Amino acid sequence: MTLTQTVTRVAHQVTAAPSAARRLRASAGEALRWRLGMYDDLQLPPFPLSGFTYLGLRARPYEESDAEWRLAFENAPGMELWENGDRPRTTRAEYEELLRWTRRRIERQRGPYLLLLEDVATGASVGDLSIWRVREHYRTAEYAIALAPDARAHGHGLVAGRLAMRWIFGTGEIGRIEITHSVENRVACYATRRLGMAVETIIPDAYSVRTGPGEERRDAGCLHSILRDDFEAGEAERLAARRPSMSPAPAPDPAPTDASR
Ligand SMILES: CC(C)(COP(=O)(O)OP(=O)(O)OC[C@H]1O[C@@H](n2cnc3c(N)ncnc32)[C@H](O)[C@@H]1OP(=O)(O)O)[C@@H](O)C(=O)NCCC(=O)NCCS
Repeated sequence: MTLTQTVTRVAHQVTAAPSAARRLRASAGEALRWRLGMYDDLQLPPFPLSGFTYLGLRARPYEESDAEWRLAFENAPGMELWENGDRPRTTRAEYEELLRWTRRRIERQRGPYLLLLEDVATGASVGDLSIWRVREHYRTAEYAIALAPDARAHGHGLVAGRLAMRWIFGTGEIGRIEITHSVENRVACYATRRLGMAVETIIPDAYSVRTGPGEERRDAGCLHSILRDDFEAGEAERLAARRPSMSPAPAPDPAPTDASR
């Protein structure tokens, strides 16, 4: 085949399959950004492929056989409080695309790491733990947890939170962990404070909550954080024992006025 024929054929394929062309453009763009070091500040320490276990809960990379569970999980009630702009997948093909994406990210040590949480004793899948580096915030990582409805309110959320903190801080490369949730998510706020992560600030318009097909509500985000030194000093355990009340997240401090200075 001559060069002209090859070019004509590729051009034809690209016109005939715009989604393939988009994918090609996206992966070429991503490869270039990697070469230029644009993702350096999103790198995470390597996650063990065999998983990381704490108190009977294991976080591990997804596999092909998790497709059915993951699709049901994404479409379960309550997940709109976790998605923050993502839309639930419904097909096996979408799951396979997600699997390729998450594997690539884990291989290249670029977050988010999507990890399945499973009960070690029964082998049952209970939820998802995602971990990523906060861009431009030196040595800070964020994580998010969502559990399937029948696994909620059994204590898994607190164990999963501790598991995440132990892995992240245990790598020795991260000095601060953040969590953000919608201010309307009282259970997440309470559970996060139980983990010793104080509310740091309220961020207006930071959170998207799906309210129907193609519709969303914009909520303020409630940002919690903890430093490694506090966690390692056992501060988290001590604060957790205090049991905060299930009250709404506090409003941000008013900006100081001239009169109050
Ligand atoms: C938020 C979430 C991860 C918490 O995990 P969980 O396993 O349900 O919570 P736990 O069982 O570990 O409970 C944590 C604390 O919250 C309390 N709690 C849990 N669910 C509660 C509820 N519905 N009402 C009141 N208190 C509740 C528990 O009693 C426990 O406090 P205690 O130890 O002082 O008794 C889980 O409910 C979930 O996945 N929700 C849907 C998705 C989501 O909102 N994710 C977070 C957004 S980023």
